[in-house]
Amino acid sequence: MSHNIVSLAPHHLDAVWQIEQHAHAFPWSESLIRQTPSKIAVNLALEVGQQVVGYCYGQLVAGEATLLNIAVAPECQGKGYGKILLDGFIDRLTELGAEEIWLEVRASNSRAYQLYESVGFNEINRRYGYYPTATGREDALIMTYLVL
Ligand SMILES: CC(C)(COP(=O)(O)OP(=O)(O)OC[C@H]1O[C@@H](n2cnc3c(N)ncnc32)[C@H](O)[C@@H]1OP(=O)(O)O)[C@@H](O)C(=O)NCCC(=O)NCCS
Repeated sequence: MSHNIVSLAPHHLDAVWQIEQHAHAFPWSESLIRQTPSKIAVNLALEVGQQVVGYCYGQLVAGEATLLNIAVAPECQGKGYGKILLDGFIDRLTELGAEEIWLEVRASNSRAYQLYESVGFNEINRRYGYYPTATGREDALIMTYLVL
């Protein structure tokens, strides 16, 4: 089925909030998911037919972009949608004049890490004990992507 990457809009947010709660061990709050986007926000939805299968939240300030959140509905993962969405995010940021994109990922999240690496992100730093876990803390890996 054909897919579409579009700007995240209010009518997507019920589906986004459902996915957020099921995709992440530590989801964002509902108010964060539903907050009115600021001028620096670059938030996208991936639609397949009528269905929202994934989304990302990002921001762009003076050429420097950050990926804040990305998720694909659990039942749709492993089918290439995460990569389609991330490629779409990079394309949108490139159009908007981004020079580099930053993100942080949990050290244990090898699925996301491999996705980021596969599109060209490089690990450049580590924040020790940055994220809470069920049993303690874990490191954040900081990755960057240089827009050519
Ligand atoms: C991370 C996430 C967005 C990836 O989306 P996805 O649709 O499952 O990923 P894709 O099917 O596009 O896979 C893209 C790449 O990710 C990696 N990947 C996907 N599934 C994987 C798995 N089970 N194990 C390891 N790597 C995997 C691979 O590098 C894959 O590339 P390949 O198919 O060429 O090997 C999705 O798993 C998700 O929503 N996870 C929960 C939320 C999350 O952790 N978000 C990131 C932190 S904010």
